[in-house]
Amino acid sequence: MNVHTVTVALGQRSYPVWVGPGLLADHARWRAMLRGRHVLVVSNTTVAPLYLPRVSAGLDGMHWSSHVLDDGEAHKTLANVDGVLGALATLGATRDACVLALGGGVVGDLAGFSAACWMRGIDFVQMPTTLLAMVDASVGGKTGVNLPAGKNLVGAFHQPRAVVADIGTLESLPEREYRAGLAEVVKAACIGDRAFFTWLEDHVDAIVARDRHALLEMISRAIRFKADVVQRDEAEHGVRALLNFGHTFAHALEAISGYRLLLHGEAVAIGMVLAAHLSEHLGMSAPVARHRLARLLQKFSLPVTMPPGVEPMALLELMRLDKKNTADALRMILWRGIGRVEIVDTVGEAVVLGTLEHAGQQVGGN
Ligand SMILES: NC(=O)c1ccc[n+]([C@@H]2O[C@H](COP(=O)([O-])OP(=O)(O)OC[C@H]3O[C@@H](n4cnc5c(N)ncnc54)[C@H](O)[C@@H]3O)[C@@H](O)[C@H]2O)c1
Repeated sequence: MNVHTVTVALGQRSYPVWVGPGLLADHARWRAMLRGRHVLVVSNTTVAPLYLPRVSAGLDGMHWSSHVLDDGEAHKTLANVDGVLGALATLGATRDACVLALGGGVVGDLAGFSAACWMRGIDFVQMPTTLLAMVDASVGGKTGVNLPAGKNLVGAFHQPRAVVADIGTLESLPEREYRAGLAEVVKAACIGDRAFFTWLEDHVDAIVARDRHALLEMISRAIRFKADVVQRDEAEHGVRALLNFGHTFAHALEAISGYRLLLHGEAVAIGMVLAAHLSEHLGMSAPVARHRLARLLQKFSLPVTMPPGVEPMALLELMRLDKKNTADALRMILWRGIGRVEIVDTVGEAVVLGTLEHAGQQVGGN
């Protein structure tokens, strides 16, 4: 099977994203990106036993070690950055050292941020092993960790030197994690690629079965979309904000459930349907687009209604905390239909509350 290459074109910091099966074992390909002798592989207790041997087999002759984190978002902390930096110090890592981030978005964000900090920035290579990390987290250079005060509050823009998306690793990914990743794929199609949305509708069975040909096509298309957005607006001053379609609702839903009930992708699925609903309330779109979206998400077994017991007012209060808001209006990413998303700065709180109250429990329905 072919390997697809997507280039993220950012001048001197351009890099390839390789998508295909067997890439972790394609040592010659990714070793060519290593400039120095020192390599630190960062992974976690779930992924390392599965895939670290495949990677380390390619590090013969290098001065390398591995640093294995505990698994979970709760470990995306500054204390663990300190641990990675300590491992780099023990390795004697120089300016030309490279960090290999082997795992999902948690490992990628933390390892990338550590690479951004060590000696004011060394190379890192993303080796994403979740669907979400392949199509979203590993591409675009956002790195960081959480603080007790909130998610992703500390971070840096630091582009990887390459992204090695071995789709074979998705075979071991738990079903729920896989489906949560699909929400981000659907999001990409919703934002700016109507043809991709139709392709997803036409290939539901193959996608759910994780057919390799379907995976290769789907993941490459989603990455191409993300790369294009990042190229146009690397530092998120404009169009990159569109990637947050569904996310204002999603972040509030995650927070209200104490980050336990919903995976991020599941919250995004609900959030996108709510955003579609709100767009209708503002006269921007028609119900038919929302129905199509909800139908596709449901075929991927993703939730499209708010979890029971969520109070609209409490959700609105969390949405207000978003720092992009003005005093009496919310800044939301809304749509005019599939593939046509835009930033609206002047969404009144009353219409948001009205949407949540009317549609809250049946956002996928009428
Ligand atoms: N930097 C960005 O642009 C960006 C974008 C989106 C999300 N994120 C971040 O990504 C994180 C979420 O990433 P995620 O969804 O990948 O979560 P994750 O990294 O926690 O991975 C999910 C689970 O799957 C396990 N796992 C990973 N690969 C596996 C495999 N191949 N087989 C079996 N199990 C595997 C992990 O150990 C974990 O338990 C969040 O911290 C979020 O903030 C960052």
